[in-house]
Amino acid sequence: MLAAAVVLVAAACTAGPGPGPELTASPADAPSGTAPSGAVPGVLPSGELLAAAPADLAIGMAVAGGGHHVGTALGTGSPLGDEDYAGTLASNFSSVTPENQLKWEWVHPARDRFDFEAADEIVDFAEANGQVVRGHALLWHSQNPRWLTSGELSDAELREILREHVTTVVGRYAGRIAQWDVANEIIGDDARLRTGENPFLARFGTEIVADAFRWAHEADPDALLFLNDYSIESVGPKSDAYLELATELLAAGVPLHGMGFQGHLSTQYPAPSGVAANLERFASLGLEIAVTEADVRIPVDGDVAAAADLERQAEYFGSLVEGCLAVASCRSFTVWGLSDAYSWVPFFFSGEGAATLLDADFATKPAYTALEAALARGR
Ligand code: XIL
Repeated sequence: MLAAAVVLVAAACTAGPGPGPELTASPADAPSGTAPSGAVPGVLPSGELLAAAPADLAIGMAVAGGGHHVGTALGTGSPLGDEDYAGTLASNFSSVTPENQLKWEWVHPARDRFDFEAADEIVDFAEANGQVVRGHALLWHSQNPRWLTSGELSDAELREILREHVTTVVGRYAGRIAQWDVANEIIGDDARLRTGENPFLARFGTEIVADAFRWAHEADPDALLFLNDYSIESVGPKSDAYLELATELLAAGVPLHGMGFQGHLSTQYPAPSGVAANLERFASLGLEIAVTEADVRIPVDGDVAAAADLERQAEYFGSLVEGCLAVASCRSFTVWGLSDAYSWVPFFFSGEGAATLLDADFATKPAYTALEAALARGR
């Protein structure tokens, strides 16, 4: 029974300052008989990542669909309808994140209309396979519908719209989505609040961030609520800014429970250094830690990556997972894209690609082997 291969076991450790469950799933939670057939035979061994992972570390995957997939062959249906995709996802991962399907443009396409169809499919899939779900994202500057960003709403209307959005979306999945990225990428590369691009921050500053956390907490008191961003894996001005923000929010009694480190890396830049020490700064505030969107893009010629770059990529994935494993409260590690066939990278970074653990035929790459070995070495 495939569901039995989903082995991540609930650890009885306590969360950070927040209430609620860990990001863990137990095989006992999985109804039997509903899982798709096994991972791709002879390509990705069934259940291997999960078998290697420490019991208290959820291994997550972003479920493709939407976003850049619109207008491409991948955009015509849910990837969960692809047996190889679904089987690999079910057997090697204990957590899933909808890659796009909970973003505003998907879930709230018109002011008076919510559409949960695509997100529901993923949450149902996760439950059928004993997986937990990370919700992504409630307050972000990107992938917002035009009706929201047109600038025609008054302050009072905008605030009420956000309150209603957070309450409705989090409330719908109360008890089913274990963690939420409440505020995503709210600090820019200049280490300042993204007031220019984010319609909510532009009007209300950090006050609205605190409100979003409070509304989410009211809607699901058991969900763990996260800040989430990229380029904060090492100590630096941007991660310093988050440390300061998190400290302030906690001091104000805001229900902030976790810090998400996206982990979108490129071999064009140095690998992040001192990841564990940086994560530990946030853990020592009492926060849950998660690596939420790991991928490592490399130069490609067409679709082809050089062997040396694939080795380098493996080291970069290693720096992320080893950083996580060194920190006790880092309890989830999510990869952004199941195989290179489903990665967002080629659409967004010209000349770069091959950013995931599996190639476009689902064959394992050195990064997969490195991740598996690091997980097997454990904490
Ligand atoms: C990306 C998706 O992967 C794409 O499909 C979409 O077209 C654009 O967004 N940081 C985030 C994610 O928080 O939501 C982004 O996901 C990648 C960067």
